Amino acid sequence: EAPIDLRIGSAVWGQSELLDYDHANPDEFEAILGGEFDSVTPENDMKWAEIHPEPDVYDFSGADAVVAFAKANRQEVRGHTLLWHSQNSAWVTEASATWTCDEARDVLEDHIRTVVGRYAGDIYEWDVANEIFQDTWDAGGVKLRTEANPFLKACSEDPVALIGDAFRWAHEADPEAALFLNDYNAEGVNEKTDAYYALAQELLADGVPLHGFGAQGHLSLMYGFDESMQENFERFADLGLQVAVTEADVRMPLDENGEPTAEQIALQAERYDGMLQACLNVPACSSFTVWGFDDGHSWVPGVFDEGYATIMTEEFEKKPAYFALLDGL
Ligand code: XIL
Repeated sequence: EAPIDLRIGSAVWGQSELLDYDHANPDEFEAILGGEFDSVTPENDMKWAEIHPEPDVYDFSGADAVVAFAKANRQEVRGHTLLWHSQNSAWVTEASATWTCDEARDVLEDHIRTVVGRYAGDIYEWDVANEIFQDTWDAGGVKLRTEANPFLKACSEDPVALIGDAFRWAHEADPEAALFLNDYNAEGVNEKTDAYYALAQELLADGVPLHGFGAQGHLSLMYGFDESMQENFERFADLGLQVAVTEADVRMPLDENGEPTAEQIALQAERYDGMLQACLNVPACSSFTVWGFDDGHSWVPGVFDEGYATIMTEEFEKKPAYFALLDGL
């Protein structure tokens, strides 16, 4: 089978970064985003809290800005995300306290049909279900997030049925989009990806339109690189699925001046390249996306006690990691 065209992408936050986009006079950030990448992912704009702030109110402004930017720059768009335990609207969190499964299903179906339908034809891949499995260290271990995810919680008697229907609704709303499962700590063969593998088999056996498995690729130099990433991708590809690296970054603890060591900088380049090669070595790998391309637009410092995670500095200076990806392609 011929390999799929691999898209190289970046996340971008339309609401705060692109909404005032001036096509005639892009600043350096927009010139790099538009010039270096084939694909963009809205970092937050398609999440519930942004796009569906009230029960009957949708706000498409940020998402529209990302899609418009992509079109103006002849790029494609990765949709992110429809069913997740995090960044849900306040009204969802509130209402879900008393949801029956039917009520949760109705809310999710309406949302998926509305959002996926609006961008039908514009999105080549959708992260339909994001982070739906717990981690080994969570109470209860690796299992579907039937506590943290309000939709899975309301339908905890048969969460797989809800997940399958989420894919069906998305597929009906946009038959062209490839529909993905997506998670972190999902690069190598491990307990979590074993659970995804079993779920994927179950969904496919049920005839669910599942088309891909995404490993987010949020790595840290505090941990080793899981060399089984290619093997993991291969087993999902053997199920007939596409695979993708959807949110790559490689963070690290910094010294007291906020600087990395030369050794860390070199290792970071190796890790980015390791993920890219796992993708390139599997013909079903359809996209490789970095979660922001410069340290000035990275979620890492806000969340971890680490930094220097992207392929360019805040001043858009290209790091060895940038050249490792370029050479690796
Ligand atoms: C992050 C964004 O980058 C931040 O701006 C936001 O505050 C929190 O979410 N896994 C995901 C992404 O699937 O949606 C998350 O993005 C990072 C972890």
